[in-house]
Amino acid sequence: MASVSELPYEERPANRDLSHIRGEYGWPFVGKTLDMLRDPQGLFAHFYEQYGPVSRISITGNKCVLLLHPDYAQRVLMDREKNFSTKMGWASVMADFFQGGLVMRDYEEHRIHRGIMTSSFKPPAMRVYASQIQRIVDKAVQRWAAQDSVLFYDEIKRLLLDIAFDVFCWVDDSESTVPKISKAFVDMMEGALGIVRLDVPGFDYHRGMEGRRYLKQFFMGMIEKKRASSDEDIFAHFCKEKTELGEYYDDEDIADHMVFLMLAAHDTTTSASTMAAYYLCHDDNLQTALAAEVAEWPDELSFDHVFHSTNGLICVFYETIRLHPPVPLFLRRTIRANPKRINADHGRFWHPERYSLG
Ligand code: HEM
Repeated sequence: MASVSELPYEERPANRDLSHIRGEYGWPFVGKTLDMLRDPQGLFAHFYEQYGPVSRISITGNKCVLLLHPDYAQRVLMDREKNFSTKMGWASVMADFFQGGLVMRDYEEHRIHRGIMTSSFKPPAMRVYASQIQRIVDKAVQRWAAQDSVLFYDEIKRLLLDIAFDVFCWVDDSESTVPKISKAFVDMMEGALGIVRLDVPGFDYHRGMEGRRYLKQFFMGMIEKKRASSDEDIFAHFCKEKTELGEYYDDEDIADHMVFLMLAAHDTTTSASTMAAYYLCHDDNLQTALAAEVAEWPDELSFDHVFHSTNGLICVFYETIRLHPPVPLFLRRTIRANPKRINADHGRFWHPERYSLG
């Protein structure tokens, strides 16, 4: 029989005994999941104060090691020794919705698949999106200016959907298609956050999965047409991109990457923009300073202007996501015993011999 270390990493058994690490699991089954959904920063600050930068916790149905220190974040994200699987980390909570997306690919597979995004995120493509976005935003701002009040969250969600259906996937029969894909997309996003994960009619999760299935079919059905078109949206770039072997990416992979990209981009930017607006509403001085800065901008904003200048709005955005990260966790699964201590100081909480899988 193969020893544990000879098994493919996806099949190695989990080490669930973290009792040697300080921390607390919380309630049976749910652990600290509800606390995390309610107030992630508060929960993590509590763990940091009580247990230091390394602690054990139970969230999303998994017993985890919580690493709360920039050095650890760097080490895990750089992962030079290939100790951590992104795919297995996210699969534990989002396998169905993220299926085939970039975070569901590790190592060499990730390298090959991120090639699908090569031309879609290069400056020439970004310049096209920037001018499209500016046109859509201008229209939305004019609409808001004509209203007595604006419910920012609802409006920004609508605006970002409009942007998605132009920049991510432009369709020429927008009258009949956009409402359907829009509904499928909204169902998918709500379903992805559903607490009861049952693909059975009546549950948000099921509606979400139905939305995902619809979107995937929609994208797959459009691939040939996009390849033949001169469209410059992200989907068209994905369809036309070729692998190192000079072949198009597989249709199913293209559709999965599109679904993931839309999921990854929408709620995150909605949440960050809403929080930024919230802070600006509470700070008249900052509002005045930013308004003065924006008044100096050219009417036709360019991609280079927005991204290559240190403007105040970008600083507000960065500070907002520092204070309220829309994704509060990087989920990873350790895939092998790590013989090295993280560092001499914090390593006292970290007993490598207990991670031995062999
Ligand atoms: C404020 C907005 C955003 C935040 C806070 C955010 C956050 C994140 C985080 C934390 C990850 C890493 C997950 C991990 O490695 O465990 C991620 C990955 C990703 N995000 Fe975003 N994101 C945002 C906007 C976007 C947008 C607008 C797009 C697309 C246009 C996007 C596309 C992606 C993709 C493709 C990945 C996978 C990258 C990879 O695995 O190499 N994100 N995002």
